[in-house]
Amino acid sequence: MKNFLIIGHKAVTETFSLNDLPGAAGRMDILCRCVNAALFLSHDIRRDVCVFLVLKGEPSPPKIIRFDGSAVRYLSPDERSAASLIKKALEKKAQDFWTESTAGVSIRKGDLDDIIKELDMKVTYLREDGEDIRVNKFDPQSDRLFVLGDHLGLTEDEEKIILGCEHEMISVGPLSLHADHCIMLLHNEMDRGKHI
Ligand SMILES: C[S@@+](CC[C@H](N)C(=O)[O-])C[C@H]1O[C@@H](n2cnc3c(N)ncnc32)[C@H](O)[C@@H]1O
Repeated sequence: MKNFLIIGHKAVTETFSLNDLPGAAGRMDILCRCVNAALFLSHDIRRDVCVFLVLKGEPSPPKIIRFDGSAVRYLSPDERSAASLIKKALEKKAQDFWTESTAGVSIRKGDLDDIIKELDMKVTYLREDGEDIRVNKFDPQSDRLFVLGDHLGLTEDEEKIILGCEHEMISVGPLSLHADHCIMLLHNEMDRGKHI
C-alpha cells in the first residue's frame, strides 16, 4: 500500500466555493492536483494508493481527508472533481474517527502525528535536499507513508514530528518541484522497480 500525505497549511476547514480554489479556499488547488497525481492512471485508478490531505487553514484546523483508491467513486481527473469531494467531506462533522462522506472519501479531526500513529509505518519525507531516490534504492514493494509539503513546504514543528519516528528523507531530483509532480516521479520510479 502506498500512502501519500500532503499538508495544506492554508487549506480551509469549512465548505468553500469551487470557483476560487487557489484564493479563498487556501491553495486547495495544490491538494486537488496531488489527489489526481497520486490516484490516476490513464482510464484507471491506482487501487493500492491512499491519499491523506491535512487541512490546516481556518476556521477549525486541523482536519484530515482521506481518499482511498480501492473504494473511491465519483472522482474524475480534474481539479474541480477532487475539490467537490473535499467540499462534501467538509460538510460532514469531523470527529476523532473517520466518517465517510462519499464512497472512498472520509474525514476526521487530526494532524500529521495522528496519521503517522495510525498507519504505524516508515515515513518517507520528500525534501529537495534528501538522498537521491536513484542512489538510495528503496524497495518499491514495501508499505510507506510519503509526506510532502504544499507551496510552503513543512514547518519546523512538522519536521520534528517526522524526525521523531522511523523515517528517511529522499529527493526526486535536483530542482524544487511542485508536490504533484514529485508524486508522479515517485510513482514512475516505483512502477519501474516493480516491472523491470
Ligand atoms: C513547491 S515544493 C515547496 C517549496 C517551498 N518553498 C519550500 O521551501 O519548502 C512542495 C513540496 O514538494 C516536495 N519537493 C519539491 N521538490 C522536491 C524534490 N526535488 N525532491 C523531493 N521533494 C521535493 C517537498 O515535499 C516540498 O515541500
